[in-house]
Amino acid sequence: MNWNDEHEGISKVERREKDSDLKESLEGVFDAKTLRYLYDFMRKGVIKRFITNISQGKEARVYQAEGEKGYIAIKIFFTSSSEYYKTMPVYMEGDPRFSRLKRGDRREIVETWARKEFANLSEAYAVGVHVPKPLFVKGNVLIMQFIGGLGRPAPTLREVRLSYNSWSRAYKQIISDLQRLVVKAGLVHADLSEYNILFYRRPYIIDMGQAVMLSHPGAEEFLVRDLNNLNNFFSKKEIGLKDLVKEDLIKRWLASHR
Ligand SMILES: Nc1ncnc2c1ncn2[C@@H]1O[C@H](COP(=O)(O)OP(=O)(O)O)[C@@H](O)[C@H]1O
Ligand SMILES: [Mg+2]
Repeated sequence: MNWNDEHEGISKVERREKDSDLKESLEGVFDAKTLRYLYDFMRKGVIKRFITNISQGKEARVYQAEGEKGYIAIKIFFTSSSEYYKTMPVYMEGDPRFSRLKRGDRREIVETWARKEFANLSEAYAVGVHVPKPLFVKGNVLIMQFIGGLGRPAPTLREVRLSYNSWSRAYKQIISDLQRLVVKAGLVHADLSEYNILFYRRPYIIDMGQAVMLSHPGAEEFLVRDLNNLNNFFSKKEIGLKDLVKEDLIKRWLASHR
């Protein structure tokens, strides 16, 4: 892969200006500790160069960067005050992987959240679910495989345009990944929708911070909600799939997980 795909036609001066804009914006948005994690990754060569800010969410920003072997996606969670400190612990409840959480400490909660997303991605990836390959996590900074081609991030399912047959194939691929996630990894995504699935030649499930183990008291309810979100999207007029998976099938998945 050519690092400079995206920058063909951009002069060195322009690129340097773009880089310094991005550096300034990182310094304006993130606290000293977060910047230290980023500089550490840069010193080690894990991050070679920031390319662009792909997404600005309430909880995190995602950047595209040049990594050691290709493009990487860097998800940086905000540690500044936000609503989500209330919801995060809900999805960590009773999770033996993250039981020693100090509830009062914001940075601790966010760093645990980043580690949880990394762990969820790792477990999903290990059983063959199509998710970005997780690469590194440090503090509130998570680095993963970049999903996209020619330097452009893949569109979400919400944004992509496909033929009827491709939608039909995509649905089957997602359902099969969902089943794998439940049966083989024992995880429920818990925020699955057309916004958290990218499409690059096939669907990739992203945004796994809130995913819970099957032992979580809300697991079944979350799984039903995930399936309903998918079915609502795939039954929309312009897509119009009819053979959608029913709730009783996922009950069988739950029962078949050892
Ligand atoms: N691995 C990735 N490769 C390419 N783009 C990504 C990747 N991860 C996230 N993105 C982009 O960033 C957006 C937000 O990521 P997400 O993990 O859903 O965070 P949020 O919690 O802000 O919703 C995605 O919709 C997608 O456009
Ligand atoms: Mg998201």
